[in-house]
Amino acid sequence: MSKQSPVLSKRTYAHSDPDFEKNSIFDFHPTPVSFTKVLVDEIDLPHEIWEPACGEGHISKYLKERGHRVISSDLAPWGFGKTGVDFLRTKKAQARAIVTNPPSTTNGQFVIRCLDFLDEGEIDIAALIIRLEFIGSLWRHRDIWSRRMPTKIIAISNSMPNIHTGNNYSFLHAWFVWSNAKGRRGNLVIRTTTTDRKWE
Ligand SMILES: C[S@@+](CC[C@H](N)C(=O)[O-])C[C@H]1O[C@@H](n2cnc3c(N)ncnc32)[C@H](O)[C@@H]1O
Repeated sequence: MSKQSPVLSKRTYAHSDPDFEKNSIFDFHPTPVSFTKVLVDEIDLPHEIWEPACGEGHISKYLKERGHRVISSDLAPWGFGKTGVDFLRTKKAQARAIVTNPPSTTNGQFVIRCLDFLDEGEIDIAALIIRLEFIGSLWRHRDIWSRRMPTKIIAISNSMPNIHTGNNYSFLHAWFVWSNAKGRRGNLVIRTTTTDRKWE
C-alpha cells in the first residue's frame, strides 16, 4: 500500500496483528474509498443512509464526505457507530437506504434481509458490495435471484486491495443494487468499471 488513510495508518492489519483473530471472527474487511466512490458516482442515493455493518466506518465516512447523513451500526465493537446491533435480527430499518459491505460468511443472509426490508416497504434501495461470484450457486438462484433480481450490478474490473495483507484479493467485487424505484424493477443494468487501486 503506497498511501493509507489516516485511520488505517494508526494500526497494523498484518496477520501478526493481535486483532487478527477478532478480524477473522467478525469477517472484518474494510472497503477502500475508491470502491464506494464508484457507487456514489453511479447511483442516485437518498440523503439518509444506513450502514448496518460499518466496521471502522470506511464506507460511512466517505458517504458523509459526499453529503449524506449516515446512520452507522455493527455487531462488533470497532469503535465506530452503534455497536452490538445484529443486522440479521433488526426488525426496523434505520433509514430508507442501506449501503454496506457485508461479512462474506453471511452475505446471502444480509441480501435476503435487505430483500425483506424492500418487500416490507421499509427501504427504497439496498446496495451491497460482494464478490462477483456471488451470482453463482443453486441456493442463491432459489432464494435470491428467483425472488428478486437486482436493478443494477456494477462490476469492478480490478481487484480490491486487501488491507490485511497489503496485496489484492484474488477475486473481483461488484455493487449489487436493488431498488424499489418505479420503472427500475425488472430492468437489470450491468456495468463494468475500474477504480483507483490505492486506498484513497
Ligand atoms: C466486510 S466487513 C465491512 C466493514 C465496513 N462495512 C466496510 O466496508 O469498511 C463486515 C463487517 O460486518 C460486521 N458484521 C458481521 N456480522 C454482522 C451482523 N450480523 N450484523 C451487523 N454487522 C455484522 C463485522 O463486524 C464487520 O465490521
